[in-house]
Amino acid sequence: MSGEASNDWDPESYDSMPLPHLRWGDRVLAALHPTPTDLVLDAGCGTGRDTAKVLDIVTNGRVIALDRSSSMLRALRSKIGNNERLEIVMGDLGSELDLNYRCDAAFSVAALHWVKNHQTAFSNLFQMLKPGGRLVFDCGGRGNIASIEGVLRSLPEQQLQFDVWNFAGVLETKENLANAGFTDITVDLIKDTIQIDDRKVFEKYISTLVLPFHLAELRVDEQKVFLKDVLDRLPSQQIDYVRLFAKATRPSI
Ligand SMILES: C[S@@+](CC[C@H](N)C(=O)[O-])C[C@H]1O[C@@H](n2cnc3c(N)ncnc32)[C@H](O)[C@@H]1O
Repeated sequence: MSGEASNDWDPESYDSMPLPHLRWGDRVLAALHPTPTDLVLDAGCGTGRDTAKVLDIVTNGRVIALDRSSSMLRALRSKIGNNERLEIVMGDLGSELDLNYRCDAAFSVAALHWVKNHQTAFSNLFQMLKPGGRLVFDCGGRGNIASIEGVLRSLPEQQLQFDVWNFAGVLETKENLANAGFTDITVDLIKDTIQIDDRKVFEKYISTLVLPFHLAELRVDEQKVFLKDVLDRLPSQQIDYVRLFAKATRPSI
């Protein structure tokens, strides 16, 4: 595999994990302050945990749930069911999207580090906001999962493409957001190391959330060897997350 990550998520396994994403999502929604009449975009919605939360907040508004993964969107649909205030859209934030939405607010949780071209992603988000619209997002930032990246680099399987993430820093993110047209920009990097004590859960977490696309490149027998190799080389059962947390506004005029 090369370039952008493909569609290979396992939604059932994803939702069964002890996800710090819950906290990250809550932090994003607290900063976004959706109001009851807002039209809100959830960009990279996955299985729709935060989509469902926003639907409950915007009681007289609507939510657009956008993702590039058909398996995640199917899981979202079965989790939330039919709701006339929800629109589900399959789309790639890394390619120019021509979607005619003018949202009051847009947010994204743990998705944008899977998009190599942030400039394109931010331009897409800008286009989908109305003037005065707010953007808040969280994703992996500079230094994220450094210990796992270090292990991947140390492996003999050099042929494995591990360049699937875009862990951007503060300055480039400010610049990319400004180039897309945003103002009132704030960007921070937040360290958030988690520990998963149970070895089996840790293994499943790493394969489901961190390395699904590395594993997808391998035959089943190779996957076991690769995963064991990675786990054996990791110094602990900690994941050294660093979150890129940003807020920005599309100017009113
Ligand atoms: C780790 S999941 C996070 C899902 C959800 N926001 C959450 O917090 O649980 C990352 C999601 O981003 C989506 N994604 C990755 N790259 C994308 C892209 N280029 N365009 C749209 N969605 C993308 C994936 O398909 C996946 O559903």
